[in-house]
Amino acid sequence: MSAPNNPYDPVGVSALEPAAVDAAVQAALVSIAKAADLDQLKSARLEHAGDRSALALANREIGALPPAAKAEAGKRVGDARAVVRAALDQRLVELEAERDARALVEESVDVTLSTGRREAGARHPLTTLMELMGEVFIAMGYEVAEGPEVEAEWMNFDALNVPPDHPARTMQDTFFVGSEDSGVVLRTHTSPIQLRAMLARDLPVYVVAPGKVFRTDELDATHTPVFHQIEGLAIDEGITMADLKGTLEHLATSMFGPGVRIRLRPSYFPFTEPSAELDLQCFVCLGASVGNPDAPCRTCSSEGWIEWGGCGMVNPRVLRAAGIDTDRYSGFAFGMGVERTLMFRHGVTDMRDMVEGDIRFSRAFGWEV
Ligand code: PHE
Repeated sequence: MSAPNNPYDPVGVSALEPAAVDAAVQAALVSIAKAADLDQLKSARLEHAGDRSALALANREIGALPPAAKAEAGKRVGDARAVVRAALDQRLVELEAERDARALVEESVDVTLSTGRREAGARHPLTTLMELMGEVFIAMGYEVAEGPEVEAEWMNFDALNVPPDHPARTMQDTFFVGSEDSGVVLRTHTSPIQLRAMLARDLPVYVVAPGKVFRTDELDATHTPVFHQIEGLAIDEGITMADLKGTLEHLATSMFGPGVRIRLRPSYFPFTEPSAELDLQCFVCLGASVGNPDAPCRTCSSEGWIEWGGCGMVNPRVLRAAGIDTDRYSGFAFGMGVERTLMFRHGVTDMRDMVEGDIRFSRAFGWEV
């Protein structure tokens, strides 16, 4: 009896048995199906389709078979490996799709979440409102004038005909820079710009002057120690109170829309004569609350009107202090609070919102920069 030259390897050949090949395929399919992510699938691929996998090893045994058996065993192993490869490929597609879907959910951005990023700033609504008010006058041929916030007491009071014993001229109302006899104050109104404009300019004079003013008020819903006024001054030949009223009506309409009414109520300012308080018809009740206890109005205390500013014909004594010929020239002046204007115009009820610098307040007025 002759024996084959190559020793017969019963282990290798048994690896080619249909049952063994099937078992290898089944084991591969189970571990492929169980692979829960791409890493696990990679391990399964290595184990069941890699160089050292049962099917790869079986494939190597084919060469040892007698020629008659090679074709059949080769086809069996080849088919088995194809089945495993297809299963791997299909599971790969599934797991990749799962990974992508998960990434879409996990990596999506919640645009409503607040961030630690610094907010872009916005111009303060008082600044933009002052500009807007200035523009109303620029369109009528006025120029914008400025004056210092730290002002000579003489400019702030004496030149405006406010006598030395006037109650406003005490530390109760006025911030003195240094002692009370320093002669230097933080301006309590924008009216010193009247005199500065008259001294610095040729006649006729048409100026508006927006700016900060200071009074020793406590900060509360309706007071702030630093606030803003806009001053207007017109000096020309033949200026009358009618010009003043028409000008203020135009400003009111520009600020609050057509149909808004204003009223001049007799009053007293040392630097104007005659003088008047400028009232605006209540923008909430439009006067309907007056004498109507069934519909009271908190905004105007059922008065129908709210105070907006002061005005009058420039006192000839002030004109003369500026060296103006009062036989030839006359003028009007007015001043109103910008904070009040913002409150009326936008329904702001608490002045503290205007000074706290919370960007959410400014943002409500837009992002204009
Ligand atoms: N300066 C005055 C005030 O602060 C307002 C005013 C301005 C009055 C101009 C008359 C003329 O109350």
